[in-house]
Amino acid sequence: KTELKDFLHISDFDKDTILRILDRAIEVKALIKSRDRTFQPFKGKTMAMIFAKPSMRTRVSFETGFTLLGGHAIYLGPDDIQMGKREETRDVARVLCRYNDIIMARVFAHQDILDLAKYATVPVINGLTDYNHPCQIMADALTMIEHIGQLEGTKVVYVGDGNNIVHSWLLLASVIPFHFVCACPKGFEPDENTVEKARQAGISKIEITNDPKEAVRGADVVYSDVWASMGQKEEAAYRRQVFKGFQVDKSLMDIAGSKAFFMHCLPAERGVEVTDEVVEASNSIVFQQAENRLHAQNAIMLHVLGK
Ligand code: CP
Ligand code: NVA
Repeated sequence: KTELKDFLHISDFDKDTILRILDRAIEVKALIKSRDRTFQPFKGKTMAMIFAKPSMRTRVSFETGFTLLGGHAIYLGPDDIQMGKREETRDVARVLCRYNDIIMARVFAHQDILDLAKYATVPVINGLTDYNHPCQIMADALTMIEHIGQLEGTKVVYVGDGNNIVHSWLLLASVIPFHFVCACPKGFEPDENTVEKARQAGISKIEITNDPKEAVRGADVVYSDVWASMGQKEEAAYRRQVFKGFQVDKSLMDIAGSKAFFMHCLPAERGVEVTDEVVEASNSIVFQQAENRLHAQNAIMLHVLGK
């Protein structure tokens, strides 16, 4: 097992590698957009996709991407494997890697993805855990490169819950220099160790604040996500109270300024964390982001499979 066979956290890679993967994404995106189907690097390969949580983008983009590049992907939903319930994670890992060339998984506990990677002899890709969502933030970085020209030196302001999306932004900021601000209600700050890790890297400016209006000034990107993530839906009503004042609406985008793009990993709850008007505005690039899941992940899969 080589050390970097898996794609679990953006910060497992250095800046050159991350930028190389993003360049590759642009290259393969152009090929796919041109309808050229001669590039079949995954021909004869299969991928197991484990989903302990629901998904649209992750499931469809991974399955489509792997298929377009010649491979076959197998969807395993929450009831199929029941990882940790019907069978231990380490056993799932050791069986699936005997059938498949690559494993992609969306799980609750982060330890589950670490265990899959530890026990599988094939690459494991993190399709979201309670802790992070690296494929999403790679797609977001690609989208920023396309719309702003670069990621380095930009100001990204996340407004909402200090969740898995924020942790991946922080881990990206420990590799590539930019200004990252998380504006969240008191008590909903991101994991302290992850904030510290990003600060310790010493390349990006990292701010955690409880004041969204002050935070968004001069932003290149205002980013939002649901207030209650998968697994927290029973807290939704309570969170709607606590997160009042953290909705991204037109007045907040006006404070951000005319150069600011609006981004959201989706699914979005319109009228909750973001208004319909902001999602539909011309500076909203949420669907470009969603499309780029396909392209960023193709490049990630090419990377971990050594193609
Ligand atoms: N953004 C994202 O991961 O979407 P899904 O939950 O639909 O996969
Ligand atoms: N924070 C959200 C992201 C969904 C893509 C969740 O974990 O549900």
